[in-house]
Amino acid sequence: MSNVFPKWTNRLPLIALVGGLVTGACVIAGATYYFTPKYSRVGYQPVQPVSFSHEVHAGQLGMDCRYCHNGVEKSWFSNIPAAETCMRCHTSVLKDDPRLQPIRDAFENKKPVKWVQIHKTPDYVYFNHAVHVNRGVSCVKCHGRVDQMDEVKHAKSLSMAFCLDCHRNPHEQVRPQGEVFNLGWEPGEEWVAEREGAALVNKMKVRTSESCSACHR
Ligand code: HEC
Ligand code: HEC
Ligand code: HEC
Ligand code: HEC
Ligand code: HEC
Repeated sequence: MSNVFPKWTNRLPLIALVGGLVTGACVIAGATYYFTPKYSRVGYQPVQPVSFSHEVHAGQLGMDCRYCHNGVEKSWFSNIPAAETCMRCHTSVLKDDPRLQPIRDAFENKKPVKWVQIHKTPDYVYFNHAVHVNRGVSCVKCHGRVDQMDEVKHAKSLSMAFCLDCHRNPHEQVRPQGEVFNLGWEPGEEWVAEREGAALVNKMKVRTSESCSACHR
């Protein structure tokens, strides 16, 4: 057979392959960008290994957040409690309930429970829980009414604009330090942000930063 096709056609499969890869990469990049947290995370509510209810424990039983998230005032990190914490009660309460089997297993084998993390800032963002909760910023501002959630869902965007909104005007969002863990607290009618809020900001010496390096270090 003579050369009916010009020589470059030998490269056709390669061109098709490269073209395909490039198109594929663009689709993936676009989808990743579109589906990254900012767009899909509000409402994100993964299925957890145990249907632990904040509504029951923090709401009805009135347990303080710090009973389980006991690192939240002391460190950047708000820890998830170990199975041991649950077993303080569940060795007697619902002690044979099948819903608690994964907790009993984790406790006996000294393994962590595989909770799915819901809130996650990108690696290039620096965040710290303690600085917030020790300066009159309540959990509810960033996580919503967790005490009314049967299963936790991502309630706020936690986008950069969201963070800056408060950093620009903290007097509109701070509350008395004693009410930080009381998610249902509402400012009374006599509360005026420019007066009471501003006074708190002064008293606690709140100095929120808008400079890039505060959050991107
Ligand atoms: C009895 C223990 C307990 C108490 C009390 C408790 N939590 Fe939790 N919390 C958990 C466990 C276990 C998880 C992980 C499972 C889940 O997401 O439901 C969790 C998860 C969370 C999450 C989601 C974490 C993530 O993955 O992003 C938030 C936010 C949260 N808790 C806030 C609170 C707040 C606010 C309070 C107080 C009103 C509170 N919790 C009280 C045990 C507790
Ligand atoms: C201070 C005691 C206490 C601790 C600590 C505790 N619980 Fe409970 N839990 C209870 C009580 C009381 C009930 C309600 C029992 C009932 O419905 O009769 C309950 C109910 C439950 C239920 C059934 C939920 C439902 O919808 O009724 C599950 C599941 C559960 N707890 C999981 C956990 C897990 C997981 C932890 C640890 C992160 C934990 N509990 C920590 C006291 C506790
Ligand atoms: C100013 C906003 C803000 C406040 C206030 C706040 N959080 Fe968070 N929380 C976040 C962010 C952002 C993350 C994700 C952090 C990360 O990427 O590790 C988070 C993550 C968490 C997690 C998941 C940790 C993990 O690694 O699984 C828990 C639990 C939690 N917060 C509990 C609380 C509790 C309890 C309070 C109140 C005492 C609180 N948070 C107050 C913003 C906040
Ligand atoms: C509801 C108000 C509020 C929200 C929302 C908020 N912050 Fe803050 N932030 C504060 C206050 C108040 C302080 C304490 C300032 C001080 O130390 O005087 C603070 C301090 C900080 C600091 C410490 C700055 C330093 O100089 O050490 C960082 C970092 C930070 N915030 C990051 C974030 C990020 C990231 C988000 C969004 C995920 C966020 N904040 C959302 C109110 C808020
Ligand atoms: C109070 C905290 C805070 C400050 C101050 C801040 N950022 Fe951010 N920034 C964030 C958070 C949180 C995200 C992640 C947003 C997300 O996950 O959607 C972010 C994301 C970004 C991104 C990624 C693109 C995007 O929009 O998601 C860029 C670029 C960026 N910041 C630049 C800056 C620059 C430039 C400054 C200074 C002018 C700055 N940031 C100040 C918290 C902050």
